[in-house]
Parts: sequence; structure tokens; C-alpha cells
Amino acid sequence: MARKSSIKNLTNAKRAKNDEFYTQYSDIQKEIEKYLDYNPDTFRNKVIYCNCDDPFESNFFRYFALNFNKLGLKRLITTSYKPSPVANTQLQLFGDNKTLPKVKGRPKVTANKFIINEVKDIDEDGEFNLQDVAKQLKANKNNEWAPLEGDGDFRSDECIELLKQADIIVTNPPFSLFREYVKQLFDYKKKFLIIGNINCITYKEIFPKIKENKVWLGNGMGRWISGFIVPKSYELYGSEARIDENGNRIVATNNCLWLTNLDHGRRHQPLPLMTMEENLKYSKHKEIKGKKSYEKYDNYDAIEVPFVDAIPSDYKGVMGVPVTFLDKYNPDQFEILGSLITDNNESYSYGVPYINGKKVYARILIKHKKK
Ligand SMILES: C[S@@+](CC[C@H](N)C(=O)[O-])C[C@H]1O[C@@H](n2cnc3c(N)ncnc32)[C@H](O)[C@@H]1O
Repeated sequence: MARKSSIKNLTNAKRAKNDEFYTQYSDIQKEIEKYLDYNPDTFRNKVIYCNCDDPFESNFFRYFALNFNKLGLKRLITTSYKPSPVANTQLQLFGDNKTLPKVKGRPKVTANKFIINEVKDIDEDGEFNLQDVAKQLKANKNNEWAPLEGDGDFRSDECIELLKQADIIVTNPPFSLFREYVKQLFDYKKKFLIIGNINCITYKEIFPKIKENKVWLGNGMGRWISGFIVPKSYELYGSEARIDENGNRIVATNNCLWLTNLDHGRRHQPLPLMTMEENLKYSKHKEIKGKKSYEKYDNYDAIEVPFVDAIPSDYKGVMGVPVTFLDKYNPDQFEILGSLITDNNESYSYGVPYINGKKVYARILIKHKKK
């Protein structure tokens, strides 16, 4: 019992820490550019809301403020969360900006809202940068920088009011509140681009929406997001941690993805595949090559396809494929029928997969789309 509760405490501590993983500018830029490649007007005349983002620390704010005109934004709204351990403390995002009030010791922590309607080279030094944004915010001309009444919780009435005004929500929300966070986006029928843990695709709040093509993955999972900035208090260990050229502490993870309902080119590219006969003859996987046929599950009428690149192009029935298939999923090529992931009572879920009495890896059930 004591052991159980200490494991729970550790897990909770880890979760709380993961809530303080900050996104790198380069990862945001890399992802957003994919939507622009597909449709340069994806963000044009749109109100963007980053609702888990202290402008002093968030690269989402920084990215959208600096690219405000290039993207053709109508408005950028950002709200910070008061209990954040780094709220209002990381002024370096505003460079050496002399216009910000100097504070002795740790500044008073309040939750703020920033509303930007216009950005320009205000100091006319020929370059538009965050100092211009800070000056314009301070002058309160066409832009607003004001304290929130509450703590900036994305579920609070005042943040929901801002959410209602927004067209697209873009952020990396707290992992520990992810289910609630995403549910709110669905409830308010918002367009969004957010970062989540890979496991989120199996959540009952999300998998059915992926199945119905109401939400999908962004442009890559795993290493596509190259790492997160962590606070000074976060212990760095192993080869997955480094300090970047700006002194930021970066932890590389391979378990995150972008989740979105904004369209992009990758999901319209068909997966190149061999026929079943070709796979059985030439597959690079020893589990397939030389076999007489693909295996079948004991508890569901489908063939087991252990690798995404071994999906036969000519099989008309149902196929069980690895969860990573979703990273390659093209809704014009395949349809998703359900999952063999867990034993829950959801209508799309058919339990965990078994072959010859042995439990095998979690699978997604798919079928080729009829031409
Ligand atoms: C994973 S961090 C990411 C921060 C930032 N969005 C970024 O990508 O760099 C999640 C952020 O959400 C904030 N947060 C935690 N609980 C929140 C809540 N209930 N409402 C709004 N923000 C919250 C945390 O303080 C933290 O700054």
C-alpha cells in the first residue's frame, strides 16, 4: 500500500514537471510552415489564442507576434497562468528591453492577457522585433496588456470568453489536464493545433474523433518535436538532455505529437504499398518474408500487420496495424474501423489482440477505402 502511494506520488510529481515543458521556437516554426505550404492562408484574418502561454516565457507568443504580418493574423490573444513557477520571471523573451519596469527580486506574479491587433517597427530601427511588440503593448495603442481577474485557468469564465472570440487555438497545454483541455476545444468547436503525448491518441475523448476524421495528427510524431525547454529546477540526466546556445535547458523526448484539425499536405499523400503476394515474397521484415500468409487474430476477424510498410495494397478485409499508422494516415486511402488497444466498453474498442492465445501489441483496425 505504502509502495503504491509512493509510486503515485512520483507519477504525480513527474506529471507536474511535464506541465512545465516549454516548446522551442524552431519546433513551432517547423510545424506551422507545413500548414502554410499546404494553404498559405491558413492563419489569414484569424484570431489566434494561446491560452496556456505566458508571453514572457512562451515561444508560441513569440512566434505569432514576430510573424503577425507575415501570417496575416487579425488578432493574437495570449493568457498566462498565475501558478506557473516561471510566470513573469523570464523576461529574456523580450530581449534586453529597457521599457519593461524594473522589479527588485522576483516580480509580483499575476496572470495577464495580451491582445495584439497590430505590430510594426515602432522604434523605426529598420527591424521588427519583440522590443517593438513590448513597446506597443506598453503604449496600449491598438494592443492590450492587462491583468486577468482570476488565475488564467483555461477553464475560467474570462478565458472561455476569449476562447469564444478565437478562431484557432495553438499551444502546448499542461499534459496533466490534456483530456479536459481537448474536450473544451471540441465543446466550443474550435480549430486547433496543440502538442500532446503520443498516448493521447488512444484516449476515449480523442480516438473516436480521429476515427471520424474530426481530428488528426500534425506533421510527425516522436522525434519531429526535437525537445522541450525545462525550468532550471528540472534535473537533466542522460543523453536526452542538453543546454542550447542560448543557455536553455533542453530535454529531448520521443513521445510527443501535434494534434490538430487544420488541414495539411502530409495527410493527403498516399502511403506507397506492395501487394500481399509481394510482401510475403520480398518484405524486409522477417516476420512477413517467406510466410504463407499474414496471421489472424483469435478474437477479431482481421489480419495482423505488424509494420505500417507491410500493409498489403490489395487486401480487402480488415487489418490490424501499429498505432504509429496514424502518423501516415491518409483518409482518402484508408478508413479506421476501431481499435484493439484496451478492454473498455467503448463501441469502437474490441479489446486487446490475441494470436494463438498470446497477447500481441496494441493495434488499430483499418480497411482500404473503396475506390
Ligand atoms: C507544457 S507547459 C507549456 C507552456 C507553453 N504553452 C509552451 O508551449 O512553451 C503548460 C503550461 O500551462 C500552464 N498551465 C498549467 N495549468 C493550467 C491551467 N489550468 N490553465 C492554463 N494554463 C495552465 C503551465 O503553467 C505551463 O506554463
